[in-house]
Amino acid sequence: MSIISKDLQKAITLLTDEKLVAIPTETVYGLAGNIFSEKAIKSIFSTKKRPLFNPLIVHVPSINSLEDIVIHVPEKAKLLADAFWPGSMTLVLKKSDKIPDIITAGKDTVAVRVPNHPVTLELLKQLPFPLAAPSANPFGSISPTKPEHVERYFKNDIKQVLDGGSCTNGIESTIIGFENDEPIIYRLGALALEDIEAVVGKINIKNKEEISPDAPGMLERHYAPSTRTFLVDNVATEVKKHQDKKIGILVFKNSLNDAFLTEIILSKKGSMQEAASNLYDSLHELDHQNLDVIITEKFPNHGLGKSINDRLQRATFSL
Ligand code: TXA
Ligand code: MG
Repeated sequence: MSIISKDLQKAITLLTDEKLVAIPTETVYGLAGNIFSEKAIKSIFSTKKRPLFNPLIVHVPSINSLEDIVIHVPEKAKLLADAFWPGSMTLVLKKSDKIPDIITAGKDTVAVRVPNHPVTLELLKQLPFPLAAPSANPFGSISPTKPEHVERYFKNDIKQVLDGGSCTNGIESTIIGFENDEPIIYRLGALALEDIEAVVGKINIKNKEEISPDAPGMLERHYAPSTRTFLVDNVATEVKKHQDKKIGILVFKNSLNDAFLTEIILSKKGSMQEAASNLYDSLHELDHQNLDVIITEKFPNHGLGKSINDRLQRATFSL
């Protein structure tokens, strides 16, 4: 029997009983548990096979919930929260004593966000505790953007995927931390950099070498299909190098018109938003077609294209 269901009451009962439920958000599905239940949190780490040094994001129903969770909100954090919450942005702020150390991997900061999905917002409003929720995939694999992706990964491990349909944004939240009250991007994500800069001005991005011990979402190989996957400027040229193989290609908007290839076009009309929302589902799709190689195309490096390139680089062997 399928574990996918829309039954909100069942989700509330399971979570109250310290069990895990996969929840929909506008970015990707999360594997959620009560932040105050050590049992639930430990089971998040073991189910995902996630190392304990990798901290979790705390999901809350509204900006007002920040009071209980953090001890300091810089001015620019307030501006960002007002501009983007509920939405695809996670803020890393100084944590209050109430947040268990296992959530933050012993750090003095906590990652928090108000997700923008009606089902999960309703769930969070009804629960008397916030939810810790990493993406609902085994550590290192492609994040899930449909309930079926989660079911494939975890049908033997959890009792419910709360069905909220396909994730509209399709890549993880943008993570923003603060140093001396100035914002820094820790992970590019579903918000375009330009939109964030329109609110707080020019903002630095911490590169992955610096950040990897802090934010393993930035680990070099992550979000990866199990099929050998390449990221290139010119897909047609790369295809020629693999002639004797079964090839899948993932392109932004233009078809290669080659009947021998398995091809997915991310957005025929050339919308980066649409491409982002289709990205992981397309990678899941190609990864299950018994291909020898997947060849993916670099995006224009601005707006969401920058975030998509970041994910593709981590999913692939860049050439
Ligand atoms: O869109 C999202 O953010 C999804 C949905 C479910 O909300 N969640 C998600 O969680 O992507 P996860 O666990 O896959 O990625 C969270 C990232 C990790 O890279 C983690 O290292 C970083 O957030 N992180 C969490 N707490 C942190 C902290 N205190 N300081 C720095 N990075 C932190
Ligand atoms: Mg993840």
